[in-house]
Amino acid sequence: MTGRMSQARVSQAQERRHCTCHDISEAAFREACAAGADSVKACFKHIGRMPKCANCVPMIRKVLSEGKA
Ligand code: FES
Repeated sequence: MTGRMSQARVSQAQERRHCTCHDISEAAFREACAAGADSVKACFKHIGRMPKCANCVPMIRKVLSEGKA
């Protein structure tokens, strides 16, 4: 059971839906993307923050790729 919970936590981290360092939602990154941000750095700049741990970068890259589709 513990092994499954550990796996669930790993999955949660991989499926991070917001930036926990700054409490920025995925929706805020989508707004930044819609406003013209075309990179992770540009998204953070649009929001007025700088990335810290970068654990949210995969989610932001996904948002960016979906924005280009
Ligand atoms: S989770 Fe976004 S910078 Fe840490």
